[in-house]
Amino acid sequence: MSSEQITAAASGSWRLGDLTVNRVGLGAMRLAQHGEALTADAVPMDRARAVAVLRRAVELGVNHIDTAAFYFSPLRSANELINRALAPYPDDLVIATKVGPARDSSGEWLPPATPGQLRGQVEENLRQLGRDHLDVVNLRVTAPGSVAEHFGALAELREAGLIRHLGLSAVGPDQLAEAQAIAPVVCVQNSYGIGVRPGQDDFVRACGEQGVAFVPFFAIAAAGREAGASGADSDAVLNVARELGVSAAQVRLAWTLHRGPHVLAIPGTGDPDHLVANVAAGALRLPAAQRAAPGASTGGGEPATGGRPAACGEPGLPRQAARLLRVVADEPGRVGDGRRARSLGRHRPEEPRLSPAQVLRATVGGTRAARSAG
Ligand SMILES: NC(=O)c1ccc[n+]([C@@H]2O[C@H](COP(=O)([O-])OP(=O)(O)OC[C@H]3O[C@@H](n4cnc5c(N)ncnc54)[C@H](OP(=O)(O)O)[C@@H]3O)[C@@H](O)[C@H]2O)c1
Repeated sequence: MSSEQITAAASGSWRLGDLTVNRVGLGAMRLAQHGEALTADAVPMDRARAVAVLRRAVELGVNHIDTAAFYFSPLRSANELINRALAPYPDDLVIATKVGPARDSSGEWLPPATPGQLRGQVEENLRQLGRDHLDVVNLRVTAPGSVAEHFGALAELREAGLIRHLGLSAVGPDQLAEAQAIAPVVCVQNSYGIGVRPGQDDFVRACGEQGVAFVPFFAIAAAGREAGASGADSDAVLNVARELGVSAAQVRLAWTLHRGPHVLAIPGTGDPDHLVANVAAGALRLPAAQRAAPGASTGGGEPATGGRPAACGEPGLPRQAARLLRVVADEPGRVGDGRRARSLGRHRPEEPRLSPAQVLRATVGGTRAARSAG
């Protein structure tokens, strides 16, 4: 099976409240411009290209798109592009947006919304997307401290039927707990990945234990943040990618997905080939034995035996590469031309059926990884 034939269903699914999404989705922040996002002088994306990416994503089974009204360049708005490309929307499509931050019409940042201004931001999203209600609205928090007033305002809009489900973005455990006392929270969207805020490992796991989806951003872009992926990855990541015949970006995405079945990927891209590769990354699997190893990443809903999930900072990666990144590419969901991939039959991440006899592991020697990345 080629990458083009792998659909987002291969990544498994998760429920956001009563809405089921495939675990690999799409972030829309990259669709409005070429290069760095959220700058006033961004170079607008060709509309036909952005529309094609969105339509191809849906063809590939993507049914979770992350967006925001403040994702725009001088000539393109992510919400407008989504509306243009996908309306009338497929029944199973879940569009998650976020409110809080604000930009003026020329793209300069404004002070974040007050609780009273959130209704206007929700209505702006409704207008741009052409919807009567929003599937998921994340409160994008911009300062430490209480989220109660802002989240309470969104909870009222949920009660009023403008919003189906609520989430939080850029928060910690205390803010999640505070919000949950006000209304159900279906997802937390924080920056996270290999080399991106490894201190969040416990929070990622805690979200899963509470049935809250964890939706990492900057999993590929990492330190490049809004500027995007730099293409500069550590030798450890590159070694794993080389072993598997996949790209570093695919290793990064697969790694986040293996942190637990509640982790949803929303890779951002305006490149049709990258879209295909990102969807295919959802088919990469860690064998159960490696998931359970001390310090290994958790996956498939199984708790790590031997302690907390390993720290995942880039500096720590060399030590952990052998344990963390024993990635198996299964033939039906294989990505790229992984030389060592073997056919394992169809399986879902929550139902691992990986037999040692069937699996030829593509491993990275810890010593080699440590030496090359050290
Ligand atoms: N809640 C928040 O505060 C927040 C903040 C930032 C982002 N987000 C959301 O999260 C989504 C993901 O974040 P992101 O877009 O900033 O970063 P990302 O998904 O980590 O990475 C995107 C960058 O990686 C490149 N890329 C994507 N797929 C690739 C591939 N297969 N191979 C090589 N390069 C690849 C993209 O360039 P190409 O376009 O050339 O592929 C872009 O430069 C956003 O789109 C947005 O919806 C939320």
